Amino acid sequence: MTEATTPADETPVLEVRDLEVRFTSGRSTVYAVNDVSFAMRAGETLALVGESGSGKSTIAKAVVGLVGPEAGEVLLRGEAQAGDRTARDRATCGDVQMVFQNPVGSLNPFMTVEANVAEPLRNRGVAKEERRMRVRELLTMVGLDADTLGPRKPGEISGGQAQRVSIARALASEPAVLIADEAVSALDVSVQATVLNVLRRVVDEQDVAMLFISHDLAVVRNVSDTVAVLHMGQLCEIGPTEDVLAAPAHHYTAALRAAVPEPGVPLGDPGMTDADPPSPRIRPAGCSFRDRCLAATDLCGAERPPLTIAGPGRGVACHHPLGGAARTAEPVDVAIEGVLA
Ligand SMILES: Nc1ncnc2c1ncn2[C@@H]1O[C@H](COP(=O)(O)OP(=O)(O)OP(=O)(O)O)[C@@H](O)[C@H]1O
Ligand SMILES: [Mg+2]
Repeated sequence: MTEATTPADETPVLEVRDLEVRFTSGRSTVYAVNDVSFAMRAGETLALVGESGSGKSTIAKAVVGLVGPEAGEVLLRGEAQAGDRTARDRATCGDVQMVFQNPVGSLNPFMTVEANVAEPLRNRGVAKEERRMRVRELLTMVGLDADTLGPRKPGEISGGQAQRVSIARALASEPAVLIADEAVSALDVSVQATVLNVLRRVVDEQDVAMLFISHDLAVVRNVSDTVAVLHMGQLCEIGPTEDVLAAPAHHYTAALRAAVPEPGVPLGDPGMTDADPPSPRIRPAGCSFRDRCLAATDLCGAERPPLTIAGPGRGVACHHPLGGAARTAEPVDVAIEGVLA
């Protein structure tokens, strides 16, 4: 886990600034990501949480360059990136690697495990002998025996093993940013723990910045330094994971937390009404959570709450934050300055 060992003025590895993503087909538009900003440093894990459809994968795709933003920017080491991956230079593409929920589907089924991991090395022109050595190192790093599993095809290994192969393959490009989109969700709990340990080691030892997408708060608590909570494409709250989950400032974070039963703690107030989430096809005017929020007022429908400081390194976008979070008159770019200061 990161401590504040990096100098405060060091450029973030990844920065997402005022990102807007829309999907339009015919006359219908889905407002998938609305004005989201955050930044990450090497060796840091930032978790994106939020219910299904909140825009987590879309943010990941925008970072990788698989969907182009309507507005806003993705910066890698301070350099603004083209929205379209094909317009980015090859080295930069290798800098951001993604691990998906379905590992078997993301590997080439006709190639051996070794060949799958070796492919990015070959693409980078790494010579055969060195490639062989690197593949062994990478497989060992993710806790797999190269002699036994290397010659097999993806269909001949377990889901947990395949997920570790896909992590090894992603690491072969020596990425600065690793995106794990529900990468452990399909695995059973004991395998999940193994893969999470691998990911944590990668972040610590390779100084990778990890964007960890999950709807499982227990896993998020376990793996991330910072958590960003999304609702209908809006950033509700961001800050140190322990602090945010221990004392949410946003009502949606509180509701998400209340939905996760903790051993020995009685189920509390769900923290939200039973209203359906609003349609993603309507551009949210005020707070996207207002219809489901027990604390909503007219102001919440009229004005979208800006992200404001809610404690050390914390930001909340709420007109009536929980715990009397301090409000500043000026909206502050907490995601970029506060969290990383
Ligand atoms: N290619 C697309 N075309 C149209 N709409 C899309 C497309 N991709 C995503 N969306 C819509 O954008 C919104 C955000 O989707 P996204 O996949 O980012 O959510 P998510 O938070 O990753 O959800 P989940 O937890 O289910 O994976 C949803 O309303 C979704 O239906
Ligand atoms: Mg998703």
